[in-house]
Amino acid sequence: MFEFFIFNQYYIYFIFLAILIFVFYLFSRRKLNKSYNKKLESEVNKQLLLLRQKDELLIAQSKLAAVGETLSHIAHQWKQPLNQINSVVLNIEEDFEEKKLNKKLLENHLNEIEKLTFYMADTITSFNTYLQPNDKKEVFSVKEALNNALELVDKLLESKKIKCKLSIKEDSLIKGVKNEFIQALLVILHNAKDVLEERQIHTKKIAIKIYVKNIKAYIEIEDNAGGIKDKDFDKIFDPYFTTKTHSQGTGHGLCMAKMIIEKSMNGKLNVKNEKKGAKFCISLAKELK
Ligand SMILES: Nc1ncnc2c1ncn2[C@@H]1O[C@H](COP(=O)(O)OP(=O)(O)OP(=O)(O)O)[C@@H](O)[C@H]1O
Ligand SMILES: [Mg+2]
Repeated sequence: MFEFFIFNQYYIYFIFLAILIFVFYLFSRRKLNKSYNKKLESEVNKQLLLLRQKDELLIAQSKLAAVGETLSHIAHQWKQPLNQINSVVLNIEEDFEEKKLNKKLLENHLNEIEKLTFYMADTITSFNTYLQPNDKKEVFSVKEALNNALELVDKLLESKKIKCKLSIKEDSLIKGVKNEFIQALLVILHNAKDVLEERQIHTKKIAIKIYVKNIKAYIEIEDNAGGIKDKDFDKIFDPYFTTKTHSQGTGHGLCMAKMIIEKSMNGKLNVKNEKKGAKFCISLAKELK
């Protein structure tokens, strides 16, 4: 009986000790978890900051590349009127030397120069309107934005003998930063122009379609340059991926276009190789009037 009592007492002590150890274990685990969570949280924050910095750097670099593209657009648009102004000046000189230059003739020549300089000023205004950084989201028409983009490249495409075919089945309203959307379209159009030129395609074509399906607005841009090479297909939207020489390509274009369409406008930008070339497809939610 006495032995049983002692044994029972030990038994109670043992249970008490086990509970104590268990509580201590729980307590230390909580503490450990807490410090582990803290560490994890600070690591996640650090990585998030790094990612954000990388994104910002990429956007800044893309903007620089866009400035470069804008300058080459302007240089191209100005080439022709500058040549024309030059020839008008030569005509004035010639008329003067031949003693034909009277007030009326001089006025005509000056009017012509004035018209050309107005045209040049106009191109700057349109670039300012469409390409200036602007973060304001608005509702705009797909057709209108596409026309704005085409206005900026049509002379360039014409000079490279690239035929652009536009088919608008149904226009729709979409929401986003219009200038950014125009930039994304310009990236795709520029790439098509580059590849058509690089591969020396005989009859160079770009076909653009706008339509609506299942309450979504679609824009397809297809060229006939032979498509994206299999080995490059999965990489073309990666930052810094380019098949062009350093002076010709930075590899930012499509990465920036994807960020604009998918991150800023919640849409989708995909590509597939069709029979004759690459087809880029943008889909966006249709806005109600
Ligand atoms: N329409 C196309 N057909 C075939 N390949 C294409 C087409 N568009 C893009 N590519 C490929 O995708 C790559 C990446 O394009 P992206 O616009 O991102 O960069 P890039 O044109 O090389 O340089 P940049 O940043 O100056 O535009 C191109 O180098 C090219 O190889
Ligand atoms: Mg490009």
